[in-house]
Amino acid sequence: MKRKKRTTGGNLHEERKVDHVKICLEEDVASSKNFWDDVYLVHEALPEVDPEDVDLTVEVFGRKLAAPIIISGMTGGSESVTRINENIAAVAEELGIAMGVGSQRAALLDASLRGSFKVVKEHSPPLVLANIGAPQLVKQNDGVVFGAEEAIDAMEMVGAHLIAVHLNFLQEMVQPEGDRKTDGVWEALKGLSQEVPVVAKETGAGVSRKAAIMLKEAGVKGIDVGGLSGTTFSAVEYYRALQASDSLKAALARTFWDWGIPTPVSLLRASVGLPLIATGGLRDGLDVARALSLGAALGGFARGVLKDAVESKEALMVRLQTIIEELKVALALQGIKRARDARERPGILLGQTAEIAKESSSTASLLCTMT
Ligand SMILES: Cc1cc2nc3c(=O)[nH]c(=O)nc-3n(C[C@H](O)[C@H](O)[C@H](O)COP(=O)(O)O)c2cc1C
Repeated sequence: MKRKKRTTGGNLHEERKVDHVKICLEEDVASSKNFWDDVYLVHEALPEVDPEDVDLTVEVFGRKLAAPIIISGMTGGSESVTRINENIAAVAEELGIAMGVGSQRAALLDASLRGSFKVVKEHSPPLVLANIGAPQLVKQNDGVVFGAEEAIDAMEMVGAHLIAVHLNFLQEMVQPEGDRKTDGVWEALKGLSQEVPVVAKETGAGVSRKAAIMLKEAGVKGIDVGGLSGTTFSAVEYYRALQASDSLKAALARTFWDWGIPTPVSLLRASVGLPLIATGGLRDGLDVARALSLGAALGGFARGVLKDAVESKEALMVRLQTIIEELKVALALQGIKRARDARERPGILLGQTAEIAKESSSTASLLCTMT
C-alpha cells in the first residue's frame, strides 16, 4: 500500500481530540447500564489477609508494575491538553502503574503537535502504550496510510514499550467525518504486529470471541477489551453531530448509544491466552478487583479519572491512591493475598450480564443445530 506522508493536516484531528475531552467533561456520555454492577465478589468473614500485606505487583508484557492499573489512552495532539498527559505520566511514574496516550494521528501528520506527547518522556512510567487507530492502517478518504514506520515514530515520541492500535469502528461509523473502511484492517494489523509489539484496543464496544481469536492470529501481544459500561463514543459523537447540526449523524449516534459487548462479558469471551486489559466503565478499586476476578491482567480507567487529570497532578494522585486502597481492601476481604491470584476466585455474574454471557455462546450453537 502506497504511503502518503504529510507535514501538515493534523488540524481536523487536533480539533476533534479537544472536542472529545470537552464533551467527556461536560456531557453524560456513559452507557445506560454499568455492567460491573452485575459482578458479585464473595466476602470472606475470616480473610486471614491484612490489606497492608496484599501484594498488588504484577508483571505484564515483561514490565513490572506496582499495581494492576492502567490510565487508558485519552489525549494528546494539542497544546491545550499537554498538561493532561503530563499529569498522567507523573502520577503513573510515582505510583508504578501503566499509562497510554490518545491517538497520535494528528502528531504523526503535523510535527508541530508533538509536544503534548513528548511530555510523557519527561517521566518514566513502568509501562507506556503509544496509540494509533486501526482505520489508519488502510486507505481512507484522506489517502493517508500508517504502517511500521509511523508506529515506530509514535512509540519513540512517547518512549513506549508497546503500541495500542485502537479499534473504534462504532465511532467511525456514526461520526460526521468518520473513516468507514474496514476491509483489509486485519491483514494490515497482522503485518504491523510482525514489526512492532501491538496491543489491540477497543474503545467502548468490546471484543467478541471471534475478534479475539482473529487478533491472536494476527500476532498481537495483548488485548484491551474496551467494553460497554462507561464511555460510549456513539454518545460523544452524538454531541459532536448536534454541534455540527448534522441531524442524520446525531440520530444514528443516538440509536447506537448502547451498542457493544459489556466489559465483563468481553473479558470472558476474549480469553484466548493473551494478557487482557479491562477498560470500559471502571469507577473504583472494587471494579478493578471485579475485573481481575474475571481474568484481566490490568484494570483501565479513562473518563473516570479525566476530571482529576485535567485538574492537577495532586488531584489525580489522590484519586489513584484511593483506587489502590479500595483494591487492597477488596482483595483482602476475599482472602486474596496477591493481585495476580485474583482470578482463582472468579466473580459471580448476575442479571443481564450473566444472561448475555450465557446466551452469547448458546445462541450461536442453537443456530448451528437449526441449519
Ligand atoms: C476524552 C477521551 C478520549 C479518548 N481518546 C482515545 C484515543 O485517542 N485512543 C484510544 O485508543 N482510546 C481513546 N479513548 C477511549 C478510552 O481509552 C477507553 O477505551 C474508553 O473511554 C472506555 O473507558 P472509560 O469507560 O473508563 O472511559 C478516549 C476516552 C476518552 C474519555
